[in-house]
Amino acid sequence: MVQWWYGHNAVGFFLTTGFLGIMYYFVPKQAGRPVYSYRLSVVHFWALIFTYMWAGPHHLHYTALPDWTQSVGMLFSLILLAPSWGGMINGIMTLSGAWGKLRDDPILKFLITSLSFYGMSTFEGPMMSIKTVNALSHYTDWTVGHVHSGALGWVAMITIGSMYYLLPRLFGKPQMHSVKLMTVHFWVATIGIVLYIASMWIAGVMQGLMWRTSNPDGTLAYSFVESVKATYPFWAIRLVGGVLFLSGMLIMAYNMFKTMAGGSTVDAPVLVPAGQHA
Ligand code: HEM
Ligand code: HEM
Repeated sequence: MVQWWYGHNAVGFFLTTGFLGIMYYFVPKQAGRPVYSYRLSVVHFWALIFTYMWAGPHHLHYTALPDWTQSVGMLFSLILLAPSWGGMINGIMTLSGAWGKLRDDPILKFLITSLSFYGMSTFEGPMMSIKTVNALSHYTDWTVGHVHSGALGWVAMITIGSMYYLLPRLFGKPQMHSVKLMTVHFWVATIGIVLYIASMWIAGVMQGLMWRTSNPDGTLAYSFVESVKATYPFWAIRLVGGVLFLSGMLIMAYNMFKTMAGGSTVDAPVLVPAGQHA
């Protein structure tokens, strides 16, 4: 339990609050609009801090941990949906009145899609913390899919969007070398993530169901190895998703290198919005 107090707080305070901080800076900057609700940001921050502390036991359902502790963990995980969605809504609504910008601004595409993945993974998490759901999902690839809808969809995407915002400014360039390549990167990454998490959902539910199926005489219907064999096609799909995501990062590296190396240098901060050409 002590380990998962730290383990879950790593997710809560490393993979969540740090990146919410990044979100609160870069979304209003790129959207050119103030944060939707300052009050909401304060309320959901303190609610997150308070609630995350108690959610660790959802990693330890059906273990030697006292049952009531597991129930407390489940309850607080369910409550956690609210402050998590507070952040998501605040970020996405910052764009209200400026939705059109999403059409041709790849930085905003990254930032807003990352918030959608954040909302999705923080809906999925509370569902997985329900004991009866966790009885199926635990030890399966469903958990791995959940991890990466957070880690790739939320954490990586918000970071990528912020880096695209920062790089030209750091090197005094009017904008990124190629806006088109940024859009390509966005789609390649998004499709990669969707392939990753969708294949892990299906694989996870399949594994969970196979492991619990029993014959009329009470013996298990499938051996563990059979479930591993049945999962191969889904791992192949995950591989495709991962390779797509990786290619997106290579495109980004190329685009960043060209931005740093070429073009004229400007003294003033970048004024050309990402969707338009200088
Ligand atoms: C309301 C928010 C969330 C809740 C209630 C939640 C709940 C859960 C649950 C129930 C599990 C499965 C535990 C198990 O069966 O072993 C899990 C695993 C995990 N979650 Fe979440 N989750 C949330 C958000 C997130 C986010 C945003 C991320 C990443 C950015 C994340 C990262 C992880 C990781 C890394 C694991 C796997 C830990 C491991 O066993 O190695 N979670 N989460
Ligand atoms: C192309 C990108 C990525 C691919 C293909 C990938 C793939 C994988 C694979 C195959 C595993 C092992 C799953 C298993 O135990 O069966 C894993 C685990 C994990 N990855 Fe990733 N990963 C990627 C990016 C990331 C990023 C960016 C983060 C964090 C921000 C991350 C966080 C994790 C964590 C926390 C686990 C442990 C999950 C668990 O214990 O359930 N991954 N990843």
